[in-house]
Amino acid sequence: MSNQESSNTATNKKVILSGMQPTGRLMIGNYAGALRNWNALQHTHDCLFCVVDMHAITVRQKPADLRRTSLDVAALYIASGIDPEKSVIFLQSHVPQHAELAWVLTCLTYMGECSRMTQFKEKSEKHSETVGLFTYPILMAADILIYQADLVPVGADQKQHLELTRNLAERFNHYYSDTFVVPDPYIPPDGHRIMSLQEPDKKMSKSDSNQKSTLFLTDSPDEIRNKIKRAVTDSGTEIRMDEARPAVSNLLTLYQIATSKPMADIEAHFAGKNYAELKSELADAMIALLEPVQAEYNRLMDDKTYLEQILKDGAEAARRRAHKTLRKVYKKTGFVPAFS
Ligand code: TRP
Repeated sequence: MSNQESSNTATNKKVILSGMQPTGRLMIGNYAGALRNWNALQHTHDCLFCVVDMHAITVRQKPADLRRTSLDVAALYIASGIDPEKSVIFLQSHVPQHAELAWVLTCLTYMGECSRMTQFKEKSEKHSETVGLFTYPILMAADILIYQADLVPVGADQKQHLELTRNLAERFNHYYSDTFVVPDPYIPPDGHRIMSLQEPDKKMSKSDSNQKSTLFLTDSPDEIRNKIKRAVTDSGTEIRMDEARPAVSNLLTLYQIATSKPMADIEAHFAGKNYAELKSELADAMIALLEPVQAEYNRLMDDKTYLEQILKDGAEAARRRAHKTLRKVYKKTGFVPAFS
């Protein structure tokens, strides 16, 4: 692995970069699988968290929706505990160097590398097969490499994109000279699989057409209670983790997320109780978990100037760092420095 700048030289901390697409309202899986981990990582790492609005337009977005969800996602980062004093929080489109580096990397990427991506194959069945959808992973590689990130927290579905990122970093370093840190994926240690409340053999998704399937971070207490009450259950009455009974297992997983208790304790607690009791306690726990997040989210949305200031400062800090990398890349590529 390369190289001399593999951690922030000022702080000596490893650099972390991650991001989410503003393509819908965030849900409990985004919190449990990403935001909560980011929150913990910012104490020990030099973290940058990006709202990847340029990735969002690889499938059609209504401009007004994109504008709203982009700010929404940024506010939810902060409301979930990402501290702008500790982490850099910004919108991808505010830092033009991502797209500029993406072009250089595009010219190093083979057609076959992009067409192998399973997410491209899946998405191009559902959406128009644009070149943007095809080259999406190269923009993601640019997001990561432009900050010389060491670690990239992602879900398992992004591992293939990370592999491409590593290959591109190594290819550039080999063809020109040592420039990029080759990043490692960081797959969270306690990855929970959260399933749909209505079809527990399907993953819970923020873009499910059935809104009752998904617990959004901004759902009101009544909505949370109702969705949990109406969640499907499986046959059998025992409340315990059981691969053959995905519905009850999912409710227990959600209870674990909300309470952070060991599963053995949770199963002991619910021994002899019924589904109604589980659902009612789960709703209470979930409402309690989300209450402080929602309070902070509402405060941020009521006073946009604070949020805008954070995003302005974040973009400035990010641009400064991105500029340093891009300057090196352009020089090594053979571009004549701009005359000043
Ligand atoms: N592709 C990621 C997803 O859909 C989002 C993303 C874009 C990302 N750029 C990134 C994640 C850089 C981590 C790092 O989830």
